[in-house]
Formats: sequence, C-alpha cells, structure tokens
Amino acid sequence: MCGIVGYSGVRRAAPVLLEGLEKLEYRGYDSAGIAVCDGGVIRIAKKKGRVKEIAQAADFNGSVGIGHTRWATHGKPSERNAHPHVYGKFAIVHNGIIENATELKEECLARGESFASETDSEVLVHLVAACYRGNFLQAVSEGLRRCQGSYAVAVLCEDFPDEIVCARGGSPLVVGVKEGETFIASDLAAIASERAEVYVAEEGEFVCVKAGSAVFYDRNLVVKQKERLQYDYNGDSPEKMGFRHFMQKEMSEIPSVLKKSKLILSNREFYKVLCQTKYIDIIACGTAYHSGLCAKYAFESLCRVKTEASIASEYRYCNPIVGKKSLVIAVSQSGETADTLAAAALAKERGAYLAAVTNVPYSSLTRLADYVLPTDAGFEVAVAATKSFNAQLALLYSLADLRSGGGGEWLKGADALAERVLEVSEGVRAWTPYFLNAKSVYFIGRGVDYCTALEGSLKLKEITYLPSEGYPAGELKHGTLALVDEGTPVVAIITQKALAEKTMNAVHETRARGARVFLVTSLPECAEHPEVTASVVIPACREIFSPVLSMIPLQKLAYYVSIARGIDPDKPRNLAKSVTVE
Ligand code: M6R
Repeated sequence: MCGIVGYSGVRRAAPVLLEGLEKLEYRGYDSAGIAVCDGGVIRIAKKKGRVKEIAQAADFNGSVGIGHTRWATHGKPSERNAHPHVYGKFAIVHNGIIENATELKEECLARGESFASETDSEVLVHLVAACYRGNFLQAVSEGLRRCQGSYAVAVLCEDFPDEIVCARGGSPLVVGVKEGETFIASDLAAIASERAEVYVAEEGEFVCVKAGSAVFYDRNLVVKQKERLQYDYNGDSPEKMGFRHFMQKEMSEIPSVLKKSKLILSNREFYKVLCQTKYIDIIACGTAYHSGLCAKYAFESLCRVKTEASIASEYRYCNPIVGKKSLVIAVSQSGETADTLAAAALAKERGAYLAAVTNVPYSSLTRLADYVLPTDAGFEVAVAATKSFNAQLALLYSLADLRSGGGGEWLKGADALAERVLEVSEGVRAWTPYFLNAKSVYFIGRGVDYCTALEGSLKLKEITYLPSEGYPAGELKHGTLALVDEGTPVVAIITQKALAEKTMNAVHETRARGARVFLVTSLPECAEHPEVTASVVIPACREIFSPVLSMIPLQKLAYYVSIARGIDPDKPRNLAKSVTVE
C-alpha cells in the first residue's frame, strides 16, 4: 500500500511527481503530498484526498523532489498524517510499516523532539536527522538500521539539494535512468511511459539518485553493479484510453488477454515438476484466491491430482503440511501482496517447489519463486481485479490441460467467445435498479459455478458497498436461506449441464421466499424458466473452464451497480490495489 515517487532531472520536479503519483493512486488515495528541493530549501505540499487536490499548492520550481500517495495504516487519513514528513533538514516518504515505531518515538520524545503526525513513518525522518553527521547516505542507512518492519523510502536533505537517497527493505522500489533524468517509483507503472532504463532495487539496497544517474549500494554501503530490467515497453501504459473508468477499459481487454495466453512448454524443469507432483497447493488472496479455487476443480477433475486452494493469510498460521518437492503455486496479480509472499516463503522453506503466477514479472514474488509463470495481462489499475482474473484462469487451466495431456485446444477461440460474452453482458445494465438499495445480495452456484459466485460477490461488495455473499447453491437451505425475503436479489450461475437441475432447485427455494432471481448461464433452457427475473445467456465452452467466461457478466454487473450508486469503481473506499501490509 502507499506509492512513492522521486525525480531528479532537468524538468520542474512537481509536475513529474504529480503525474507519477496519479499513476500510483491505485496503491492508496487517502492523502497525497510532495516535497521539492527548491534552491536548497525543502518545500512541501500535502493534502487529504486524491493527488489532484495538491496540484495547485505544489507550484514549486526545483527539479529534485519526492512524492507519496497514502493508504492509511497508522493514523487516520488527514493532512497532518500525509507524507512527506519533515524534520530538520530532511523530508521523507515511506511505503511500509515500522513495527517498533512506538518505542523509537519514545526515544525521540525523550530527546525533546516533537511529532506532527500520528504515523509510524514520521519517526524515520527523526532517526535520519539524529544519525546525520554530514554524510547523507550514512545517515539514512544508520536510521533504517534501527527500524523493524518494512519500507521503501525516499529522502531529501537540504545540504544535498541535487540528490535523493532511497532504500528498499520489504516494499518495492524501481529506478529509471535516462539522459539527464532519474525517476524512482514503487511500481514501473508510474514511470513506464518515460522509456528509461529500469533497475529494480533488491532487499537491503540503497540508491543515491542524481539527475541522469543512480548509484546502488548493498546493505554495507558497498557500491553494486546492477543489471537493467529487461521489459518490453509495448505502449501499454496505465491510461484510460478514452474509457470512463480503468475497470471498464480492463474488462474490454479480456479477449486480447486470452488471445495472448498460451500453453507454457518452454520451461522443461517446471514441466517436469508439474507432471510429477502428487499434490498441488495454491496460495493467494482475494480474487487471486478465487482463481486458485477454480484451478483446484480443474486439476482435480482433469488430472486427478489432489489440490488445495488456501487463503494465504490463513495458510501461514495453520502450520501447513507441505509435501517436500510438491508443487506450491502462489497466485498474485501484483506479486507484492504481503500475505501471499509470506505464505510462499513458508512453503519454500518447507521444501516445496514454488511457482509464481503473477502479472508483474519484476515483483517480489518472482524473486522468491523457483519458476515464474507470467500472466501478461498488462497494467491493471482498477482496484477491482478483472482481466487479471481471466488471465490467471487461462494460465492455471492451461497447466491443468497440459498435465492431463491436452494440447491447449480449449484456448483456441476463447478470445472470440469472450468478445461475445462482453457484448451480451451489457444486458446486466438493466438489472441495476433491482440491486441499487438491496439489503443484501446472494450469488449461488455449484461446482465451478460456486467459485464464480464467490468472485461475483467479492466484486460486487468491494465496489458497490452492498453486503453480499457467494454461496454453494446446495448449502443455502442449511441456514442462509433465512436471510432471503421479498425482493432479495439472488444471482445464480449455471454452466454445467449435470448440475443445472440441482441449482435450479435452489432457484425455486429462493423464489418461493420472494427473491428476485438473475441468471448467468450457458444453458438457454434455464434462462427460459418463468421464475427467472432476467438472464444473460453466454456461449458455452468446456464446462470445467467456464468461469473464464461466466465471470464477465458479474464483473459488468458490479461495475454498473457501482456507477449507479455514485461510486468511483476504480477507487473504492478503504481499499488499495497492492496490499503490501499483513
Ligand atoms: O495482487 P494480488 O493478486 O495478490 O491481490 C490480491 C487481492 O488483494 C486482490 O485480488 C483484491 O481482492 C482485489 N481488490 C479484488 O478485486
């Protein structure tokens, strides 16, 4: 959570920083701020709310600066808790959590120092100032040595007006260098369009940034040679490209993402592990967990390999039984989710082969994994994951297909089917009045449709704030049915012929209690049932892989209900896209 940026170059720093911060807003949007070194004096602009709030106040001239967009952990969203934090000659921006902040703060207070905010981060600037004896880099290194927790920081010092010192310890940091200019950011998304040479800071590294140069140091402050990141800048950038929202743009890209997906045969070593393992563990959070759950059905039914999908934050604390040399697949769009990283590290420690399914090929997860399986979905900016889910499914289903001896035929034409589903899904817009003020919404399904129900419900609640639950259709009558009454919207998903009648039983049960039933199905005969209020009929595909298509109408439903309720679907309250805290 939180995004940091920095710039040292030939342009005025403020507009460059603001542009970078806007591209990082998906990491948090509780407050924003920048600090610019202007003629040897640090000037600060910060405000509660979005980056655009500080544009006017940030009219500084200097060409060296740092910036921050915040997702609040310690201290509520407010101007005083916004970064940068300033003390003495220093200003700092921080992404991460300082776990021993209280203790360190007491030390500073005992020295007579006072604090302006309730944040854990402010203590960092006090520590750096206390360690400063004329050597900027040394002061940052000594200050950070006192801290427990995680950080990516960028620091300004009035005595070094053309320099930024940065450090990475648990939170991501990339550096871009081109003629006369250097950029730093939490994520490549902020600087990709600059077409600079990019370097990824590793754990424990420090970077001294000046216009057009970046010197990397290891944790003992010995200079390090770095290899530049190989990445294809294919014009993909976190821009809305004429769409009203990123979420809308990202859903529209699902067909092209599926078209790009292909069977991974190139990594022979991974192929061997995949084909030999007797047990697969999938660990992930949120939407990525739901794609893992979908994959469990595919691995078990097609390959007959025992597969478990676990929520990463629970996996860590259940003392998991991890088979030595079994396969653990960590799924994460960002590759930076703290719980997923910790669970993946635990699995590796216990002897498993770790594969990373991720959309960010330079992320922390890729550094931890034995095998990296990129989803290649392009930048995803909206907090609600859409195209990355479909891309994860395409990849995981391809693995199941591969292990069961398939040749990837199922993927052929998936893009055209998705295109068709996008078209028919527009029909869900007409459903929105029934959901607008619902007390609660239920998504039901059996088999793989149950996984889709879970993800449909997550999508709806995170961007509409409507209470909602995804439920196995057969389980309703064991308790939850008590919550269904007159007008309750129930969304049923039916894509498997053998289970259709059974799920329709649940439809009758909810209908009998006054529910309004909305159907997403590939079986037209179900859609015609008189008890169904409205339906979307999607093209059929191989049933076990159907979530890759059946999820699209539910993504659209969440989107349309969100905008009808006056919510910005790209930036729902209290959330951030990259959850880098536990
Ligand atoms: O980057 P990751 O895939 O690891 O993120 C996991 C979850 O935080 C993420 O899927 C979250 O649930 C989304 N907001 C869902 O739309």
